[in-house]
Amino acid sequence: MATRNETRTRSRSNDNNRKTRKPAAEKSAFSFGNGESGAAPLLGALAAGAAIGIGANWARKFLQQASESVMAGNAWDEILKLEHKATLAKFDALLATEDSETVKRAGLVKLLHYGLNKHSFQEEQVVYPALRQANETVDADHLEHEHGYVKTYLYRLENMEKDSAEFLPTVREFRDLIAEHAKMEEEQVYPRFKAAMSDEQNARITMLMNKEGMKMN
Ligand SMILES: [Fe+2]
Ligand SMILES: [Fe+2]
Repeated sequence: MATRNETRTRSRSNDNNRKTRKPAAEKSAFSFGNGESGAAPLLGALAAGAAIGIGANWARKFLQQASESVMAGNAWDEILKLEHKATLAKFDALLATEDSETVKRAGLVKLLHYGLNKHSFQEEQVVYPALRQANETVDADHLEHEHGYVKTYLYRLENMEKDSAEFLPTVREFRDLIAEHAKMEEEQVYPRFKAAMSDEQNARITMLMNKEGMKMN
C-alpha cells in the first residue's frame, strides 16, 4: 500500500499531466460581486471552541480579527486563514491531553471534525472550483487530494480508542499534514490567486464561500 507521501507525489505528477489539457483561464462565474459577506460560519466554530474549553480569550481574539476581515468584504482568504489558526489550536489542545482524558479527547475530535468539514466544504465548493476556472488546476487538484487524507485521519481518530498509544502520534501526523496544507494555501496559492482578481471578484468569492459555510452550521 502506498504511503501518504508517495501518493501525494504521484498526484502532483498526474496533476502536471492534466494541466496541459485544461482550457484557458475563465473567471466569469465568479465575476458578479455584490459585496455580500458574513461571519456566521466562523462564529459557530468559535462558540464551539469556547464551549469545549479551548479558551474564551482565544475565541474573543479570533472574533475581533474575524469581524475586521469580514468588514473588508473581499477577505475570503483572511477568513480561511483564521480558520486554519483555529484548527491548529484544536490540535494543540488535543496534544496537551493525557491518555486518561478520553472524554475530552472525544469532544475535541468531534470539534475538529466539524471545523474541518465546514472549512473543506467551503474550499471544495467555491475556492478550488474558482482556482480551476482561473487555470490553477494543478494546485486545486493537489489541495483537494489532500482533503481526502484529512477525512481519513478524522476517520482513524474517531474510531480509535481514545487512550490508545497510537492516539497522540496520529494527532501529531495529522497536525503536520494540516500545517503543511494550510501553509501552501496561505503562502503560495491564495495570495497569487487573490492578486490576480479584482475586488469585485474577491467579494464574490467571499460571499459564495460564506453561503456554503452557512449550510454546514
Ligand atoms: Fe484546504
Ligand atoms: Fe484551507
